[in-house]
Amino acid sequence: MVSLCPTTLSSPFHSKTLKLNSYPQNANHRPFSLLPLSAVASRSGYETERGFDFEIGDTFFRHESATGRDLGVLAAALYKKKNDNLRVLDAMCGCGIRSLRYLSEAQADFVLANDANEDCNGVIVSNLSTVSSEEEGRWKVIHSVANRVLAERYVERDYFDFIDVDSFGSDSSFFRCAFDVVKLGGLLYVTSTDGFSSGGHRPNHSLAAYGAYIRPLPYSNEIGLRMLIGGAVREASVLGYHVSPLFSYYSYHGPVFRVLLRVNRGKPPHGMYYYYLLQHYGFICYCDCCGNSQAISWDKLGQIKCPCGSDVPDSLVVCGPLWTGPLHCAEFLAEMLSLAGEWGWVGNDTINDLDKLLKRMIDESNPDLSFGFIKLDEIASRAKVNSPPIVTVMNAIHQEGYGVSRSHISNNAIKTNCPMSECIRIVKGLQQQQL
Ligand SMILES: C[S@@+](CC[C@H](N)C(=O)[O-])C[C@H]1O[C@@H](n2cnc3c(N)ncnc32)[C@H](O)[C@@H]1O
Ligand SMILES: [Zn+2]
Repeated sequence: MVSLCPTTLSSPFHSKTLKLNSYPQNANHRPFSLLPLSAVASRSGYETERGFDFEIGDTFFRHESATGRDLGVLAAALYKKKNDNLRVLDAMCGCGIRSLRYLSEAQADFVLANDANEDCNGVIVSNLSTVSSEEEGRWKVIHSVANRVLAERYVERDYFDFIDVDSFGSDSSFFRCAFDVVKLGGLLYVTSTDGFSSGGHRPNHSLAAYGAYIRPLPYSNEIGLRMLIGGAVREASVLGYHVSPLFSYYSYHGPVFRVLLRVNRGKPPHGMYYYYLLQHYGFICYCDCCGNSQAISWDKLGQIKCPCGSDVPDSLVVCGPLWTGPLHCAEFLAEMLSLAGEWGWVGNDTINDLDKLLKRMIDESNPDLSFGFIKLDEIASRAKVNSPPIVTVMNAIHQEGYGVSRSHISNNAIKTNCPMSECIRIVKGLQQQQL
């Protein structure tokens, strides 16, 4: 058995020294999730979110992450409504705001709030005490590295309905332990904040963390989500579990990539899972010459070429393996939107960011649409015209019989199954009409 003891870790970005509990003695066993603390931006004081006043002290807290918390709470609340029971493990809870909201808004029956930094204890306990007293047993605060917490819960056969891992960087080390602790049909909310890897600037790193060799693509922030889902799908399949994304959310603050996965144990019968895996887990190829993107299945790897016939050396950028399937489940998002309406978070003639985000995600779920997105500037530059208004381009593409939607990731971009060559033709046609 590995012996664990408290230790300390200094961050070069932080004057403060973090005290970390249950940290392996062997330095080689240091969980690298504790290392990339460059995003840490703590400050003393209090915050308010969705009407909750809470303390942040010197813990890590970002109010820009509120939307990611809203999405998690809505999903957890839906789960509770359907299953009548909700046990949450908030594996990296910071000041405990998520735990507080899972208890209050999602009506969680129990929340295990963990943060490796035991200095957070007073703040977390104080925040959760505003919901119920510790003695009532609806929550418990602990301080250990997330993987140890998950492994201990697994040994104890103590399973959770909803696990939120709000990690830093490209930490994928918790996937396996988390799959083992989430209940059948339960939800796992995973994170990456590694914009260098998704941008294709650290292919060796993305390969190590998510098993995907990522190179720069014009829709790299969607690639970040696909890299994360692909890594999870792969790890799940090792254990014979079956996961599918209910929603995938990118926020430029950070950046932060968050995906909510539904986890099912056991392989579906009749080889369905293998079909699903082969269909949605593969490679993406982008042609620098013509701007065309295509998915490449495993059995076609030796035949990669672009329909434009380009023979320019290195014009084809191939990434993967990663998730090429749907980013969201439209039905689940529609239920989240409806619940957000019931709670007064959207609707009442107010179009706010959450409203816009959920609606865009629902539009993005159209199964006709391909992976990736096309920036209008790229079409305009390839067509050598000024960029027309996005709505005009979308209408024209739609009229030609293609699927098209906005992207929640990039404001001036479209998701479509219309090939780049056709987009260029359509945009040139719009320009002609104006002359
Ligand atoms: C992104 S912050 C959490 C923010 C919080 N979930 C929120 O929504 O405000 C990540 C937290 O994880 C803690 N942490 C980092 N590595 C950890 C690990 N391996 N296990 C548990 N906690 C860890 C840090 O101390 C930090 O408080
Ligand atoms: Zn091409």
